[in-house]
Amino acid sequence: MQAPTVVSAVPSQGHRDCGGIGGHPRGLTTLFFTELWERFSYYGMRAILVLYMVAPASAGGLGFETRLAAMIYGIYTMSVYMTAIPGGFIADRFLGARRSVLYGGIVIALGHFSMVFASKFFFFAGLVLIVTGTGLLKPNISTMLGSLYDEDDDRRDGGFSIFYMGINIGAALAPLVCGFLAQSEIFKGFLARLGFAPIVSWHWGFAAAGVGMVLGLVNYVIHRQRIAHVGLKPSERKVAAGLNQTGNQTLTVDEWKRIGAIGVLFVFTGLFWSVYEQGGSSLNLFADTLTRTEVLGLAFPSSWFQSLDPVYVIVLAPLFSWLWVRLGHKQPSSPAKFTWGLAFLGLGIAIMVPASLLAVQGKVSPLWLSIVYLLMVIGELCLSPVGLSTVTKLAPQRFLGITMGVWFLAAAFGNLLAGFLSGFFDAHDPRGLAVLFGGMAGAILAAACVLGFLTPSVRKLMGKVH
Ligand code: PHE
Repeated sequence: MQAPTVVSAVPSQGHRDCGGIGGHPRGLTTLFFTELWERFSYYGMRAILVLYMVAPASAGGLGFETRLAAMIYGIYTMSVYMTAIPGGFIADRFLGARRSVLYGGIVIALGHFSMVFASKFFFFAGLVLIVTGTGLLKPNISTMLGSLYDEDDDRRDGGFSIFYMGINIGAALAPLVCGFLAQSEIFKGFLARLGFAPIVSWHWGFAAAGVGMVLGLVNYVIHRQRIAHVGLKPSERKVAAGLNQTGNQTLTVDEWKRIGAIGVLFVFTGLFWSVYEQGGSSLNLFADTLTRTEVLGLAFPSSWFQSLDPVYVIVLAPLFSWLWVRLGHKQPSSPAKFTWGLAFLGLGIAIMVPASLLAVQGKVSPLWLSIVYLLMVIGELCLSPVGLSTVTKLAPQRFLGITMGVWFLAAAFGNLLAGFLSGFFDAHDPRGLAVLFGGMAGAILAAACVLGFLTPSVRKLMGKVH
């Protein structure tokens, strides 16, 4: 028996909503900007978090040792995705996704504003609030987006690609704004002229992150009409679907099969992130130590390579969105897209093998990393937005939130493994690096082959879902 797609039942009656960005439902526009600002707040604060923790008290920081700061950072970034599970559960059972996103956003904003105060207590309280709020917001905003589309609507993956672009616009802008406020001498001079101590500049960076989240909330509330029919509470869902209050919560055989398909994709997604996230760790170190950081004679800071990822996503996401919509029913199945995602990631990291071998003779051209990141982002766009979209198609609607929460666990595990793998980076041993990156490439390309092989079986598990 097919699970009733209760959440998407309302918009599909009668006509298809095409009034939003790129011919998508209007609700996409609301969710796009809310997520853009939420990610602005997340990545803006994250960009200065470690720097603030290790800065000495005389420079306005907390004066933590690097190891302690790195540990707090690791626990924080993992917790942010782990809380997606209780966040999704709360949406399924009590609040519904729409209210969960609202409350989550408010808690996140409070968290950032808590860090405006120069005190350890308010700093940690801020982190806890952001972790809690993100758990409520992040999985549920994705499930709501999925609910804007009918099960057989070909625009779904395209819609998620556009949504992913919003994420990356926020991620690209935020470090520039928050980093400027927290660190630049220009802004410190400005603060001094206003009569503030320049070392409080960090807290202006944290405040800017909070302001970003508030802008996201304002947008969410003003444009709530466009999403009024999705993310309902359980009781409202039953009414919308015409079910009585004792609706079935047990799973059917078909639903178990679909969950099995999600399980298979989960494993490959975890693997994907464990190598993709080398971007911020070992590849970042490679940029810093073994890459010539200059273009046309102009030097640039090695950390600028970090902006390449979001910029590539912003440029390429509309292309992917267009491609999936254009291909319509002929687009590859979700597991096939995942296979492509792994293949591009594998090729990208494989390019690090010759780059590392060349580094034996000295620093290498910045073109190497630029191409590596490009291939990795193409892989990301085949896999990550498609993954979010696929979960919203496959999960039983009444367990959508918690399933999405579990999905985020793949990102949390992947990040953890990425940190472990990057620990083997040794800039003094470029040949060792070739082995490290070669091993990663071999594992990911092998995973792509395995998934390619499994694709027909996964498709069977998926039933009617493409
Ligand atoms: N850039 C993505 C984001 O911030 C990374 C991510 C993907 C995180 C999937 C969690 C899950 O949304």
